[in-house]
Amino acid sequence: MISKETIDKVFSVIRVEEIIGEYVQLKRAGSNFKGLSPFQDEKTPSFVVSPSKQIWKDFSTGKGGTAISFLMEIENFTYPEALRHAAKKYGIEIEETQAEQTEEQKAAQTEQDLLYKIHEVANNFFQEQMYDTEEGQNIGLAYFRERELREDIIRKFQLGYSPEQKNAFTAYALEKGYSKDILEKSGLSIFPENSSNGIDRFRERVIFPIHSFSGRVLGFGARILKNNVKTAKYLNSPETGIYHKSSVLYGLNQSKQSISRNNLCLLVEGYMDVIALHQAGIENVVSSSGTSLTTEQIKLIKRLTENVTILFDGDAAGIKASFRSIDMLLSEGMNIRVLLFPDGDDPDSFSRKHPQEFVENYIKNEATDFIDFKAEILLKEAGGDPIKKAEAIRDIVKSVAFVTNALKREVYLKEVSSKFGLSEQSLFNELGVQKQIAQQNQRSEAPKPQPKLEVVGETVFAVNPLIVLEEKLVELMLKYGDHVLTRSDHENQPYQITVIEEILAHFDEDGYEIQSPVNEKIISEIKSGIESDELRAGKFFLTLMDEEVSDRVADALLEPYENSDWSKHNIFFSKEQELVPKIIEDVIIRHKREFTVKMINDLKDTLKAEADNTETYMKILRLNQLKNEIDEALHRIL
Ligand code: CTP
Ligand code: MN
Repeated sequence: MISKETIDKVFSVIRVEEIIGEYVQLKRAGSNFKGLSPFQDEKTPSFVVSPSKQIWKDFSTGKGGTAISFLMEIENFTYPEALRHAAKKYGIEIEETQAEQTEEQKAAQTEQDLLYKIHEVANNFFQEQMYDTEEGQNIGLAYFRERELREDIIRKFQLGYSPEQKNAFTAYALEKGYSKDILEKSGLSIFPENSSNGIDRFRERVIFPIHSFSGRVLGFGARILKNNVKTAKYLNSPETGIYHKSSVLYGLNQSKQSISRNNLCLLVEGYMDVIALHQAGIENVVSSSGTSLTTEQIKLIKRLTENVTILFDGDAAGIKASFRSIDMLLSEGMNIRVLLFPDGDDPDSFSRKHPQEFVENYIKNEATDFIDFKAEILLKEAGGDPIKKAEAIRDIVKSVAFVTNALKREVYLKEVSSKFGLSEQSLFNELGVQKQIAQQNQRSEAPKPQPKLEVVGETVFAVNPLIVLEEKLVELMLKYGDHVLTRSDHENQPYQITVIEEILAHFDEDGYEIQSPVNEKIISEIKSGIESDELRAGKFFLTLMDEEVSDRVADALLEPYENSDWSKHNIFFSKEQELVPKIIEDVIIRHKREFTVKMINDLKDTLKAEADNTETYMKILRLNQLKNEIDEALHRIL
């Protein structure tokens, strides 16, 4: 965990305009900066950055927040990843909270750090060996050139070379002060029992570093140079404290932006396939590196997109692997298309044979729906054999059973039914059986996360004035929370109260229930802030990690009209700020009115169901009276 002090430090030092400036060309516009949205293609800039408020807002997609939330959006970082990234850029040292850590955990933490460090050292070593030694240039670099890789691509993927010498890296690392223990744990060195010297795991091979989502080196794949040698073509890092094969996808770090921009992830088999497609200008591609796809890997993709196209070799092994992947992807709720390359070609060889546009179109047009794909392959296999044909259909229905969304499942089933001329009913029965099997297989897995709370969308605002007003009150708290209002009590004596206190007091009246979950979250934070004697208005929330909350706060703090420079045209608005006391009074009373109306309606609903409803009836009368009084008061205010 990153300490609160570090988080505060990061937020106080970083400049939103500098961080965003690395991704978006910003131009001054009044007190703000403006640029083209990095999240959507557009011609007129609708992306606004406020240096004074240290927030940004993209009016084309509605996204907005802090510099940190921007990094989370654009790099698909988690909150801690974004903090670390920003801290690094500004040279801020990260302080971890270790209070609750045991000695054992601390040791594990330092070991992790050392593992990361030694992989960074090794990664640099392998690249230096390739570029700066004769052997590296003549063998390693020459190999990549022979495979027609351009230098910029070799650098982009940080490819390297490990020399022939038995212990080149091990000796280098020991010399640098790394222990035998950590070298062994990293999997980079092997220390045979009856020998005093360590040897390198990877020797005389080209090196493919494997990066984490955020770009740290976790391990390596290493390819042999000659195809005829009898050892394995690729050697990979073993499982270590930082490398867990099943939760890493090769190329994800280099491809994540393109995946989310294209809203599509291409899935290939090998290291070279990822790299070759990048070289061909197709950058939304990852590889599961020869192992079968896991749930964790799919979850990584799902952070970026729900659409996957599987690109596999057309050989038997490729087809088998694609079938397995299809069911895994379906059960994670992904939409899938499949594309097999002509026999003998993999994405690497195919993309080198044809121009980029052809490859792009081929992927776009030749990829088929998973049902068509399975049908084609299985029916071809079945030939004229009716039993085999039934088996094939059952296999397809089995895949449909993995589809998590009921509506989609039904659409797919209809497709199968019309494709094979079978009754939907019989398929439906088969589906039931297959679903049970699928569920049994899944039961052992971790429970699915709860669905996100639904945020009340704009359309709902329009029809539900209670929520519109609630939103407005929360917004006023966020913007002007600590403003002090001068009010007068029943005896006309003046007293002072902050905006937050006044609005909270109003919410607490009559047992009002907050209608929207996000507001609920914000209000409960404000309340706990009051209890610990710190008033919590706008900026405080921006350091919270909750995306929904920081989105809302950015919305509240950055008004759309700041977007255009009205004053240039001599149009001046009376500042909301000056009107705050009046606005708050107004919104509170309107909100109270709508709440009264809601209570009346709720009571009316219960009237019919009750045998003795006199009491309810009396309540309704009293509330109606209250509503009329409010209407009168509103009349006076207006
Ligand atoms: N693989 C592996 N170990 C092997 C063979 C393959 O780890 N002995 C993994 C690698 O990640 C490899 C992927 O499986 O990239 C696909 O294997 P293959 O198609 O044989 O390799 P290519 O990626 O096509 O490699 P190349 O083009 O360099 O032969
Ligand atoms: Mn290949």
